[in-house]
Amino acid sequence: MSEHVDTGPVCVLGAGNMGGQIAHQTALYGFDVRLCSRSEERLASARAESTKLLRRRVEKGRLDANACEEALARVETTTDFEEAVRGARVIIESVAEDREAKRGLFKRISDDAEDDAIIGTNSSTLPSSLFEDCVRRPERLLNIHFFNPALMMPLVEVVRGAHTSEETVHGAMSFARAIGKTPIRVERQTYGFLANRMLFIGLQEAFHLVQDGYVSIEACDLAVRNALGWPMGPFELADLVGLDVVEAILAEGARQTSNAQWAPPEILLQHVAAGELGRKSGRGFLSYTAST
Ligand code: CAA
Repeated sequence: MSEHVDTGPVCVLGAGNMGGQIAHQTALYGFDVRLCSRSEERLASARAESTKLLRRRVEKGRLDANACEEALARVETTTDFEEAVRGARVIIESVAEDREAKRGLFKRISDDAEDDAIIGTNSSTLPSSLFEDCVRRPERLLNIHFFNPALMMPLVEVVRGAHTSEETVHGAMSFARAIGKTPIRVERQTYGFLANRMLFIGLQEAFHLVQDGYVSIEACDLAVRNALGWPMGPFELADLVGLDVVEAILAEGARQTSNAQWAPPEILLQHVAAGELGRKSGRGFLSYTAST
């Protein structure tokens, strides 16, 4: 499929919703991918989810059946961290948004990575400078930020830290293009980078309008889809992203900016406390059956 840049194997660490789809998107464009998680179950479910989505594309006539099966075969799943990282030219960290866990992971990555590997974090909110002291070659480190669902959303934000070299930014932009994405450069680190910063202002307004009793969740989603042309309303979208993830993003915003406008609102906290995390748990702001 389209442009193929030979950068050698790609390693994706973390087999959650994002990591699994990033791995399969990369494989669709001809790269050998190692998808690594501590958990065999997560690897199996990430693989099953992307397999379902790609085979559905084949059924709809949008993807050649052989290309689909070849892509699936190019994704090797593993729980062996060293094996996943060794020899990879691009390493994308996509584990949960836990600063300390990521710091530990970056130290391990740095021990095993090739000197010239690009090390990208898919974090939405944690700038790569938080991990700068964890790696041997900070000039190879930056944020490479995908959007959910990563098999569908074209944008990738390539965010330069003060420690990141121009060569690394260029390499990350080329890599994103080579896997069929539309990258933008964000020249300096700032909370939320570009797209999330704008999106989450919209989500916060929606949460407060419903919380304060102005409109229902359904009316708000209907309005935003029909007046603003968003493909999903803010509540549907929050459920897709995961309400625990949305809470973490907003809390990090309040911390980083010292601005209470980002603080997670009560309506969100209540759902998270009740374990209603969105699509992934069958219920969030809205309810989901197996077929939705
Ligand atoms: N994962 C992957 N692909 C999915 C999907 C999912 N969860 N849900 C649907 N799709 C795919 C379908 O397989 C279908 O693919 P093909 O066109 O290749 O056949 C395509 O999306 C269209 O599906 P549908 O017709 O069923 O549904 P739709 O028209 O509503 O599209 C959508 C689904 C692409 C998700 C669309 O609703 C959309 O663009 N939503 C907005 C998503 C968005 O704004 N994402 C940004 C989130 S913010 C974020 O990511 C923040 C962060 O950093 C944490």
